[in-house]
Amino acid sequence: MNTIEKRRSIRKYKDDPVSQQLISELVWAARLAPSAKNRQPWKFIVFTGEQKDRLLDTMNTGIENTEKALAQTGGDASGLPDAKNTLRIMRQAPVTIIVMNPGGSSPYVPADTDTRTTEICDTLSIGAAVQNLLLAAQEKGLGTLWIANTLYAYDELCEFIGEKGQLACAISLGYPDEDPNPRPRKPLEDILEFR
Ligand SMILES: Cc1cc2nc3c(=O)[nH]c(=O)nc-3n(C[C@H](O)[C@H](O)[C@H](O)COP(=O)(O)O)c2cc1C
Repeated sequence: MNTIEKRRSIRKYKDDPVSQQLISELVWAARLAPSAKNRQPWKFIVFTGEQKDRLLDTMNTGIENTEKALAQTGGDASGLPDAKNTLRIMRQAPVTIIVMNPGGSSPYVPADTDTRTTEICDTLSIGAAVQNLLLAAQEKGLGTLWIANTLYAYDELCEFIGEKGQLACAISLGYPDEDPNPRPRKPLEDILEFR
């Protein structure tokens, strides 16, 4: 409970590197998560240094392409400033962990009911694994940011990463350089109902 209560999304990081041993321990915790049909639909790819820079340059290109496409079609671009801000934070953190669902496919292609059901189950399972990782990081004095704004550069990132499957999300990781207050939560009575 203490770890759950103390965890925050961290958006400022120290430059200090995080050891591969420590990152391996976090992924060890992630893999203990429950998963639908015990499929364990996850793969964690760790980017640091120049590889991280190239990954994030690709994300920048992807966001720019999305911006151009939305300008041409008149689509809703209201999420773009947040995506750009997320990219800025990712550049500042020493580690980016990419979370893939190796059996998944692009969320932007139509899917039949069975495929969609599997995808939803896998997404829920990945969420459980990511939360395990975040809590393990919290216990070890590390900060994390769970990132879905990778979706704004989905195709470009997938091509760069070069893995089959679905890009589920990313996690920024590093030693925190801020200690944010708890973010607001809905009151229990608004979200809990006994029948
Ligand atoms: C699935 C998911 C995706 C998220 N994507 C982003 C993101 O792309 N950029 C970002 O800054 N924060 C992102 N967040 C972090 C949320 O904004 C954050 O968890 C929320 O505001 C509550 O703050 P807290 O984590 O400090 O409790 C994401 C969180 C989740 C669970």
